[in-house]
Amino acid sequence: MNPSPKSSRSVVRIISSLRTREGGGFIVHRPFPTQMLMDFDPFLLLDEMGPVDYAPGEAVGAPDHPHRGFETVTYVLEGKMQHKDSHGHAGSLGSGDVQWMTAGAGVVHSEMPDEAFRAKGGRMHGFQIWVNLPRQQKLMKPRYQELPDAGIPVAQSADGKVKVKIVVGESLGKSAAIDTVTPIAFLHMTLQPGGAIEQQLPVNYNAFAYVVSGQGEFGPDAKPADAHQMVIFGNDGAAVRIENQADSKEALELLLLAGVPLNEPVVRYGPFVMNTEEEIHQAIKDYQQGRMGEINF
Ligand code: CO
Repeated sequence: MNPSPKSSRSVVRIISSLRTREGGGFIVHRPFPTQMLMDFDPFLLLDEMGPVDYAPGEAVGAPDHPHRGFETVTYVLEGKMQHKDSHGHAGSLGSGDVQWMTAGAGVVHSEMPDEAFRAKGGRMHGFQIWVNLPRQQKLMKPRYQELPDAGIPVAQSADGKVKVKIVVGESLGKSAAIDTVTPIAFLHMTLQPGGAIEQQLPVNYNAFAYVVSGQGEFGPDAKPADAHQMVIFGNDGAAVRIENQADSKEALELLLLAGVPLNEPVVRYGPFVMNTEEEIHQAIKDYQQGRMGEINF
């Protein structure tokens, strides 16, 4: 494959993640929100959970906490998580599974390591992504979409060097049919050495790549980025160009995320993201008065 660089979006910024702790104390790599970048409309947060190798009994998660005003997307690469929420949902997420939770008006949920996984220990690696909801839908009824690994389409390039798992959107002639409130694309790409892709994206989508492992070259000027770095593309082309050099020693793995910006004011307070301070105060009050429910099973 020989993608033409002509219509490809430029790279406007490369950001390294901050390494920090979240929830009950698990390590995350976080490109945003940080002081460098508060959000990337319509995305509010990207946390790479781990990768971390837990000894038996050591794994931690995020016990009961609320959300309002956006969607949380959890994507597990390795390990096993268990979730429960105030609407009575419960389930487990293993390698390759995606959970798409629209918090909307409000849920209380817990995201914990699976009990058997915790007892045995092992590697935990995954992502949590927050997708903002537009003003009109911030108080929508909460909902869940579970996407088991086996149900997520995987496409491959003709030369076999590029594999794309399509969580949301289209790539290499295949598409996924998940229902998102804000139009987005969410692609998990693996490029073997010598692999390249020119991924079409609507021009009105803001787009970035997050490197999971390996090293890649991005955009028409082949800007290099490696693990835990976020590559922000300009809105100046119909496609993004990504390549793993032929003499590279390892595969390049990355998430490509893109979406239509909402262009609305973002007021955030921990797990609540609204448009105004008043709405934040209301969220705190509703949570404290038990209107987002509780986990009682
Ligand atoms: Co949560």
